[in-house]
Amino acid sequence: MTTEFQTTCHKAGVIPVIAIDDAAMAAYLGHALQAGGLSVVELTLRTPAALPALIAMKAACPALVVGMGTVLNAEDAKRAADVGADFLVSPGLTDDLAKAANALALPFLPGVATPTDLMRALDHGFDFLKFFPAEAAGGITYLKALGGPFGGVSFCPTGGIGPDQVGAYLGLPNVVCVGGSWVASNALIKAQDWKVIEDNAKQAKAMMPA
Ligand code: 3PG
Repeated sequence: MTTEFQTTCHKAGVIPVIAIDDAAMAAYLGHALQAGGLSVVELTLRTPAALPALIAMKAACPALVVGMGTVLNAEDAKRAADVGADFLVSPGLTDDLAKAANALALPFLPGVATPTDLMRALDHGFDFLKFFPAEAAGGITYLKALGGPFGGVSFCPTGGIGPDQVGAYLGLPNVVCVGGSWVASNALIKAQDWKVIEDNAKQAKAMMPA
C-alpha cells in the first residue's frame, strides 16, 4: 500500500542523512536544504545535538518533513517522537522497536539487508524499508533481485550512495527515494558551508528521473 509518507519521500527523491553536532546550526541547515529543493530530512541520533536540532529545524522550517534516524530501540523511538519527529528510521529492526514504532503510529523506515530481514519487517506490517548498507550489501543488482520475490516492497536505499549513483537507484521500480550523507556532511555543517550544501541539494534534485 502506498502511504502518504511514501508519496512525500517519492517527491523528495533524496533524503539527506545528517549528523549534527550543534543544534544552533539546524535552522541554517534547514534553510539551505530547502533552498536547494529538498523537502525531507533525516537527522540521526548519533550526536547529543540531534534531539534539540530536530526541534530547531522544524521551528525554523515548518514546511520541511524532519525525521529521526539511527533509532536503535524503543527508547530512542520514544525520545524522537517526544520532540516531534515526523518519521523514524532505523538501520535494522528488532521486535521491540517494531512494536514501539507501531504504537507511536509514526511513519517508520526499518533497515533491512537480507530477504529474512525483509520478511520479518513484512510480518510487522512494514513494506517501505531502508535498504542498508546499500552499496556494501549489493547495491542496484541486489535491489533488482529482491524485486522478484518481494514485488510489493519499496525501498529507500542508503549507505555509500553518492550523487553519481542517485539516478540509477531512483530509476528502479522498487526504489521510492535514496538517502545519503554527502548532501550535508558533518564537515560541511561544521564549516557552515551553507552554499555548498544548497548546491549539493540542487545537484541531488537534478539527478531525479523526469
Ligand atoms: C546512514 O544511516 O549512515 C546512511 O545510510 C548514510 O550513509 P552514507 O553516509 O554512506 O551516505
